[in-house]
Amino acid sequence: MLDPIKVKKFWDSRSRTFQSVAFESIANLEQNPENLEIKIRDENSKVFAWLPNLCNKSVLDLGAGVGQWTFRFAERQARKITAVEFSENLAEIGRNEAVRRDFPNIEFVVSPAEKFETTEKYDVIFISGLFVYLNDDQAEMLVSNLKKFMDENSIILVRDGSSIVSRYEINNKFSEHLQADYSATYRTREEYLQLFNSAGFKLIQDENMFAEGHPLNKYPETRLRLFLFNKI
Ligand SMILES: C[S@@+](CC[C@H](N)C(=O)[O-])C[C@H]1O[C@@H](n2cnc3c(N)ncnc32)[C@H](O)[C@@H]1O
Repeated sequence: MLDPIKVKKFWDSRSRTFQSVAFESIANLEQNPENLEIKIRDENSKVFAWLPNLCNKSVLDLGAGVGQWTFRFAERQARKITAVEFSENLAEIGRNEAVRRDFPNIEFVVSPAEKFETTEKYDVIFISGLFVYLNDDQAEMLVSNLKKFMDENSIILVRDGSSIVSRYEINNKFSEHLQADYSATYRTREEYLQLFNSAGFKLIQDENMFAEGHPLNKYPETRLRLFLFNKI
């Protein structure tokens, strides 16, 4: 089980990388410029092939970091984007960036994603790189709340780390790449499906983000994976 205080401390400290690494690297943690370019190119092409046309749609981005995806949704003419992030420092960087890029339709809300509340319904719920930092009780709370933010046609796109064989946990280990202690839980595909099925969601499609042999499949135990769900 991860220590939520250490997880929060790690993310708060990422704001210190602002302006010393690329904007996207602050939260996606890929700090090698060549890998970052490949990552952005290949992920964009897959994620936007899976999402509907966002023009005039509303998007809820849970665990948004500084909003690297939020801004891509805004660039694709989403009507409104709510970016929920528990680190005040990261949300502040995102807020300033929304002003700088002139996107008044982006709102950053500081809250744990699993405790976020609103009466609004969103067309798209996007959850990227968040589940790996949640313990099971937090993940269950998050998923059980999602229906409140959806109407009949809403969809959920999860983009997150998964493990190939069995649950894989990194518990407060020093990372050379990040120069910090790091924690994350990689759930199996089946665990993700169980989590969403038991909360009343149906899988539409799922796939690893990168094909086997891709340079960004860096670790033998884990794969970045996409899951698309709707309500049963
Ligand atoms: C890997 S980053 C992903 C950021 C963004 N979604 C992206 O894909 O670039 C994970 C983000 O989730 C945030 N986070 C972790 N646990 C959270 C929680 N319980 N509630 C809200 N945000 C959380 C972190 O602060 C961090 O910004």
